[in-house]
Amino acid sequence: MCGIVGYIGKKNTKEILLEGLKELEYRGYDSAGIAVLENGNFSSFKAVGKLINLEEKTKDFITEKFAAGIGHTRWATHGKPTELNAHPHLGESSYVVHNGIIENYAQLKEKLINDGVIFLSQTDTEVIVHQFEKNLSNTKDPLKAFEKTIDELEGAYAILLVTKAQKDTIFFAKNGSPMLVGVDEDNEKYFASSDTPLIGHATKVNYFEDGDWGYVSNDKIVIFDKEKKEKKPTFKTLSTNKLSAQKDGYRFFMEKEIYEQSNVIADTLLGRLHDNEVIFDEFDKSLFDGINEIKLCACGTSYHSALSATYLFERYAKIKTSVEIASEFRYRNPIMTKDTLFVVISQSGETADTLETLKMAKNAGLKTLVICNVDNSSMVRLADACILTRAGVEKGVASTKAFATQVTVFWMLSLYIAQLKKSIEIKELAKQISLIRHIPTSVKVADTLHEKIKRISKRYLHGHGFFFIGRDIFFPLALEGALKLKEISYLHAEGYPSGEMKHGPIALADPELFTIALLPQHLLYDKAKSNVEELSARDSTICAISAMEFDKADDFIPISTCQDYMLEFFEMMVVVQLLSLEISIRLGNDVDMPRNLAKSVTVE
Ligand code: G6P
Repeated sequence: MCGIVGYIGKKNTKEILLEGLKELEYRGYDSAGIAVLENGNFSSFKAVGKLINLEEKTKDFITEKFAAGIGHTRWATHGKPTELNAHPHLGESSYVVHNGIIENYAQLKEKLINDGVIFLSQTDTEVIVHQFEKNLSNTKDPLKAFEKTIDELEGAYAILLVTKAQKDTIFFAKNGSPMLVGVDEDNEKYFASSDTPLIGHATKVNYFEDGDWGYVSNDKIVIFDKEKKEKKPTFKTLSTNKLSAQKDGYRFFMEKEIYEQSNVIADTLLGRLHDNEVIFDEFDKSLFDGINEIKLCACGTSYHSALSATYLFERYAKIKTSVEIASEFRYRNPIMTKDTLFVVISQSGETADTLETLKMAKNAGLKTLVICNVDNSSMVRLADACILTRAGVEKGVASTKAFATQVTVFWMLSLYIAQLKKSIEIKELAKQISLIRHIPTSVKVADTLHEKIKRISKRYLHGHGFFFIGRDIFFPLALEGALKLKEISYLHAEGYPSGEMKHGPIALADPELFTIALLPQHLLYDKAKSNVEELSARDSTICAISAMEFDKADDFIPISTCQDYMLEFFEMMVVVQLLSLEISIRLGNDVDMPRNLAKSVTVE
């Protein structure tokens, strides 16, 4: 996930920026850069890979006078991790760093290109600096030009901009992406996208609110709100605990990552959806030439997302799809035919079993695609084509946002294949695309929901087992819900198809058997409801998750009334994640590092 730092003052600007970037390393990045304006001259350095590469490039660069500097660590979302795509981005005489997404960047870019602007990168960020300079040449006033630029941007952002047109100043804007400014004992100012780079420097900090923008100079912090009214900074004392600062105030990384899902899914969608079309720039559509079947292979949570893909691919793309657990596939001498596209799914891109299946498919001459969160990972390097999920670094061992972005990619991919195969009506395609755009809203965590789950969780700390049940694509979600609970609570949980309970597991039903029932309004509601009633009649304790009131449940967790079952899927996904989290916290477990588990399993 991208990180921002900034500094204005007389101390060693280079060191402060590089140290700040180091503090953001834990968020993950694939390139980094700084730009420093000192004595009216810019010096800028960028490097791909670890920060040591940037340190190496800047080793002869000395900053000893008053300067304004900005820095950035980039996690590639739009455009590969190259030096040209790394921030800061240069216009004629200004540099910008940015976190978030400029949703209307394509329109702005087109106009700027028509005006003769030459773009060097593939990023959405670069439009900001060119737009600013266009406005500057019209208004001749840097603050007005900056204000106009912010007005023209749509999307989420935290921005720092430095320009020769107004030296000794850093312009800033915040909307949807976090940013704060801190002040030290010498009244020097520091910016960052999270607390950690400021710990040890700033004594007090002001957290910007959405819509805030303005500038900071050596003696002033000028903040305007979205109504353009000037407001005073509200300073708070900065915590000195770096680990807790890394969690952005959440109790565990897993909790933070659940809350991040809305933003990371917005990243997953960036540039891939048009009104009537799904686009994947990263491969050529000929990848699907001669393909009659798709085989998905993965482990753990990624296996569950693959399982959800089988429903979407067959339903929308009308293509025969099957899925297998990688460790099983490896040793069963599977038949592999060349009209099959072999797809591996992996958060890390390093899981040994999955990687081996990819090698097997390549050796058998199959076309291969990887859905992965880590660029340049072993699987990404090996596969013919790759779709990055753009979830950012996931620190909690129990995967949450990686799963959410994988399913999002699969939903888009099912429509992409449907387009190619012409198996979907244009009207339906447009409807599906507008539903997909709604996912970031569906996964936002409402305070009331989280509170309710916290309260209910105290009733589920014992018992002889949990069944998560669902039908259709809610079956893989049930499997994933059960896996989350097992991983972090150490309670026994199983995911089961609702309709299959009567063929055996119902024998276990008693008040100490906890059933977590997924009851989507828009998919087989009556059938799933009957299955839950069968369990309720046998006195199993039921926790129902649904938009429809259900009076046979002991506990009921409501989701909102959605337009479509897939949006219900995403809302319920958040519910099962939070339920596992709260149960585990009550049991006093280490949520982020559950016993016996590893984030990336690179052994067989
Ligand atoms: C490990 C992790 C799981 C993960 C699985 C697959 O077992 O603990 O959370 O789902 O590996 O990982 P991958 O990186 O391939 O998605």
